Amino acid sequence: MKPVVKRNILLNPGPGTTTDTVKQALVVPDICPRERDFGEVALEVERKLVRVVEGGESYTAVMLAGSGTAAMEAALISALGPEDKILIVDNGAYGRRARQIAEIHGLPHVAYELAWGDSPDIEAARRILERDGNVTHFFLVHHETTTGMLNPLPEFLELGREFGLISIVDAISSYAGLPIDLRAMPVDYLLSSANKCIQGMAGLSFVISRKDSLAKTKDYPKRSLYLDLYHADRHLRGTGQFPFTPPVQVMYALRQALDEFFAEGQEARTRRYVRCYEELMKGLAETGLECLLPARQHSKLLTAVLEPQVPGYSFMDFHDHCYRRGVTIYPGKAAKKDTFRVANIGAIDYRDMRVFNGLMKEYFGRIL
Ligand SMILES: Cc1ncc(COP(=O)(O)O)c(C=O)c1O
Repeated sequence: MKPVVKRNILLNPGPGTTTDTVKQALVVPDICPRERDFGEVALEVERKLVRVVEGGESYTAVMLAGSGTAAMEAALISALGPEDKILIVDNGAYGRRARQIAEIHGLPHVAYELAWGDSPDIEAARRILERDGNVTHFFLVHHETTTGMLNPLPEFLELGREFGLISIVDAISSYAGLPIDLRAMPVDYLLSSANKCIQGMAGLSFVISRKDSLAKTKDYPKRSLYLDLYHADRHLRGTGQFPFTPPVQVMYALRQALDEFFAEGQEARTRRYVRCYEELMKGLAETGLECLLPARQHSKLLTAVLEPQVPGYSFMDFHDHCYRRGVTIYPGKAAKKDTFRVANIGAIDYRDMRVFNGLMKEYFGRIL
């Protein structure tokens, strides 16, 4: 089938490459989002977002017009009561961003700060909790996209259970890419956005919230009008309408992306991504490049590659070499060593990674 528009291979960590059918789903008859027809689409999307992570009737997906950071900010400012305090694990840019949000809103918090590229140690986290008896919540990034590290979520949830903590988990770049089963891992607030492993379009993010945890926030002091989860959830459920204008067309594209997710299945999606990752590992080995992290810490969704310290290498030259040929790669982000990043999420497969491997060998063949 001839593509509707040029197909680019996006190896940046979202927005990713989308299918033609998701692109086409954006084109719908104009509709007022206050119409019942649109409300039905939104509620269908809401149920499907919960189903991806097996949330069942215990969870609600609160959708927000905004990028992933809107979901982070909404979860942090909505979930903490006036007496609460949160432990934030900071081993990358997104843990750091959560701290920034906490600082801006004056949320009591304590940070567990590591070098970006170091894996959090559960015993060190335990010591922080023992030292500081006031912590009620914790925030962890599941897949730290800064380095491609998969943080130890099950261990943190176990620790959280021990200390009776509410959990806020940033699964922005892992939701739908890796299996997450909320029946086995009952996270209180799990956040993501439409344009990463679920393979929709940018503009919508969501917080999959445990209904009983969210209900407790009803009378918490409001820190934002726009980003209040309790209010947003109540409004959509009560009226079938969003309190504020939603990204209408992006919602239709997300519905299509969700249907494509269920048609493919979580297992097959993860397998497709892992196959891309394995192809990338082969390409890196053949090129003579190394990864920032040991393989056991890899998310297999994004890889931070050490930049070779040789004259003649420039990330921008390498980027442009790929970009001119329809492949987009991503710069590094202040990890403990200089890196560039290659994500393998979105509507791509191992053949696309072979295209990238060819470009990588061509570029580095001249300078290494
Ligand atoms: C783990 C994680 N958290 C948060 C964000 C922020 O999302 P956005 O850039 O859509 O605001 C990202 C973006 O890549 C991410 O990977």
